[in-house]
Amino acid sequence: MKILIIGAGYMGQRCKEEWGDEAELSEKIIETKRDALDEIERVKPDVVFNAAGVKGVPNVDWCEDNQLKTILGNTLEPIVLAQACQEKGLYLLHMGSGCIFYGDAPHEDKAWREDDFGNPRPVYSRTKWAADLVLSTLPNVGIARIRMPIDWKPSPGNLINKLAGYTKVIDVENSVTIVEDMIDVFHQLLEKKAEGIFHVTNPGTMRHREFIGLYEELVDPTHTNEWITNDELVGQGLATKGRSNNFLANENLGKVGITMRPISEALRETFVKYAKAKKVDDE
Ligand SMILES: NC(=O)c1ccc[n+]([C@@H]2O[C@H](COP(=O)([O-])OP(=O)(O)OC[C@H]3O[C@@H](n4cnc5c(N)ncnc54)[C@H](OP(=O)(O)O)[C@@H]3O)[C@@H](O)[C@H]2O)c1
Repeated sequence: MKILIIGAGYMGQRCKEEWGDEAELSEKIIETKRDALDEIERVKPDVVFNAAGVKGVPNVDWCEDNQLKTILGNTLEPIVLAQACQEKGLYLLHMGSGCIFYGDAPHEDKAWREDDFGNPRPVYSRTKWAADLVLSTLPNVGIARIRMPIDWKPSPGNLINKLAGYTKVIDVENSVTIVEDMIDVFHQLLEKKAEGIFHVTNPGTMRHREFIGLYEELVDPTHTNEWITNDELVGQGLATKGRSNNFLANENLGKVGITMRPISEALRETFVKYAKAKKVDDE
């Protein structure tokens, strides 16, 4: 299977590392259907994987004042890419985000289902939801939503690096995605050309206190931080908009025969691998 990866950022590069020669990582910025067709005609892929997007630097608060750039990267780009893929009869797997859901879902277990409607207010989340809303009407398209990626490989985009670097951390409970497992699931979705929306999150939830506890146990026993509430995060000027905290149910992966490890098991193993990789990097 020849995979064309659009979006040479954190996720695009991580997938390329794991998929090797099977994948070609495109550096091209896609603004029109023609741009997308040019890449497709150059690479001649069997499937297309969209890891492009605009998350803002240093974080999603940037998107609040850069609405058009965010809309172009997160809403227009997936649409013109989908147009090109439909024209060429190619399957497209698009990376979505679980950050389109805010608070508890209207279900007894409070977990959002793949077909639930998003309720986002921040610009970043709205632009991601807008793409999901329209792309999910197309055949031959899969949408893989992830949340708060946790990677064994040290990197600025890795939740381990991010949370360990903050002096003030909110103690919230969330569904999360182990990157190593995610890359494998994406590959399976591409192989199956699976249509529809998929929550690519490890079963179970994770509290930040548990997460920092593992960091201190397995990576850095000298680490310290202060605990604050989600309201204090905005109140103290550490973020412009409150962050999305939620639980995602991943019901659709099972329907196409894909399973993921429970987070309780995957998290400790990821921290063990991260500690080893960090030691090598530090030496
Ligand atoms: N990382 C997360 O926490 C997370 C969580 C949930 C969902 N996601 C989604 O996963 C996807 C990948 O995220 P990431 O963490 O890899 O972000 P990233 O590191 O910022 O990478 C995104 C890449 O897309 C490129 N890009 C932007 N607009 C493009 C366009 N029109 N055509 C082609 N490439 C374009 C960016 O190029 P420039 O750098 O030149 O702008 C960048 O290389 C995004 O859709 C994001 O919304 C990420």
